[in-house]
Amino acid sequence: MHTVKLMPQSVEVVLPHGSPLTELEFELYGQESIPFGCKAGVCGACVIEILDGINYLGAKQKEEKDFLETLGYPGETFRLACQCHLSGAVTIQVASR
Ligand code: FES
Repeated sequence: MHTVKLMPQSVEVVLPHGSPLTELEFELYGQESIPFGCKAGVCGACVIEILDGINYLGAKQKEEKDFLETLGYPGETFRLACQCHLSGAVTIQVASR
């Protein structure tokens, strides 16, 4: 089990190893969370910034990297939350433009 800390609300959710971050939508139902759309890596609604635990959300594939750069989010700290699977404790926030 690993902890996902969502900032700036400082809300913590504990999820099993390997869980997709899309689980946050269910765990935080009715609360402010990540704005998921397609959940398939194509709409760009779910961009997050990783504040801690960058190595615990799986590898970023080339398609995801290229799409994030197109959206104006270059760099390793940005991810599409719908493409991330949890393997350790992380702290994240919804990316702002
Ligand atoms: S929900 Fe559409 S890219 Fe993540």
